[in-house]
Amino acid sequence: MKYLISGGSGLVGKVITSKILTQNEQVNWLTSSKKEQKNVSCFSWNIDKNEIDTNCFTNVDAIIHLAGAGVAEKNWTETRKKELIDSRLKSTQLLFDSVKNLTNKPKVIVAASAIGIYKNQDDLLLNEESEQGTDFLATLTKDWENAVNQFENIGIRVVKLRIGIVLSADGGYLQKVAAPAKWGFASALGNGKMITSWIHINDLADLFLFAAKKENLNGVYNAVAPNPVTNYEITKQIAKALHRPFFMPNVPAFALKLIFGEMAAVILMSQNISAQKTINAGFKFEFETVNEALNNIYKKVIY
Ligand SMILES: NC(=O)c1ccc[n+]([C@@H]2O[C@H](COP(=O)([O-])OP(=O)(O)OC[C@H]3O[C@@H](n4cnc5c(N)ncnc54)[C@H](OP(=O)(O)O)[C@@H]3O)[C@@H](O)[C@H]2O)c1
Repeated sequence: MKYLISGGSGLVGKVITSKILTQNEQVNWLTSSKKEQKNVSCFSWNIDKNEIDTNCFTNVDAIIHLAGAGVAEKNWTETRKKELIDSRLKSTQLLFDSVKNLTNKPKVIVAASAIGIYKNQDDLLLNEESEQGTDFLATLTKDWENAVNQFENIGIRVVKLRIGIVLSADGGYLQKVAAPAKWGFASALGNGKMITSWIHINDLADLFLFAAKKENLNGVYNAVAPNPVTNYEITKQIAKALHRPFFMPNVPAFALKLIFGEMAAVILMSQNISAQKTINAGFKFEFETVNEALNNIYKKVIY
C-alpha cells in the first residue's frame, strides 16, 4: 500500500508513519509547514489559498486525513474557532476537489473525527448511533464528517474514526492535563466523576491502518479502548504509574472555566463511549485497561 497522510507531522500522524515504514510500505505527507521526515516524501498545501501539490496523489491507495488545528491548544476566541473550522472543512474540501479530478483515485479515505460529536450524557454508554450534540465541538465534528462523506459520491470507501482522548508520552492529554502529576500535584478535575474514553496511541495508529486495509469497513467507528474510566480514576492511575502521590483536592469546575473559557467544556465533558462496533469489526486492542496503557507509556519516560 502507498499512503498519503494529511497532518502526518502531528502526534498521531508520526506514529502511523513509523508503523507504515516498519511494514516497508510507502508514505507521503501533505503538510502546511516546511517539515521534513526521513523516508517520507513531503508535499505542500495551503488551505487558505486553496493550493495543493497534486503530485502527492501519485500511486496512492489510501488517504489518512488528520489535518486540523489543535482543539485544546488555545482558548476558543472567535478567530481561533474560525481556524478550527477552516483547518478541517477547507482542508477536506481541497482534498475532495483535487481527488475528484484524478484518473487513478485512491481506494479509501480514513479520516479523523472525535467523540466530541456526541451529546454529553454523563455515564450513559454511547455508540455510533447515539444522539449528537449541538455545541461548538459537536457541530464542528458533524460538519467535518459530512465534508468527508463527499468521497463516497466518487466511489471512494470512507471510514471515519471518532477518536477519544489519546494517551501518549509525546503530547496531547498526558502532557497537558496530567503534567502536574509529574511534580507530585496530581489532581482530579471538576467533580472527578466525568467519564474519560481514552485510547493508547499505538492502538489508534493500528486502527487507522486496519481501517485502510480492511475492505469491508465503512462509515463511523469509535476509536476508544473498551474500558473507559472516571477522571478521578485516570488521575489516580497516572500518579501511580509515575510513582507520585495523589492527595491534592480536585480542581473545581469554575476555576477551569475561568482559565480555559468555553474550551473547559472539552476538559469537563463526560463521554462513556462504546468500543463494541470496532471490536465486532475484528480490531484487537493491545491496551484494554488504562493501567496497562499508562504503565507502557511511563515505563519509557524517566522524570
Ligand atoms: N489527540 C487527541 O486526543 C485527539 C482526539 C480526538 C480527535 N483528534 C483529531 O485527530 C487528528 C490528529 O490528532 P493529533 O493529536 O495528531 O493532532 P496534532 O498533533 O495537532 O497534529 C495535527 C496536524 O494537522 C496539521 N495542522 C495543524 N494546524 C493546521 C491548520 N491550521 N491547517 C492545516 N493543517 C493544520 C499539522 O500538520 P502540518 O504542520 O504537517 O500541516 C499538525 O501536525 C486531529 O484532527 C485531531 O483533531 C485528536
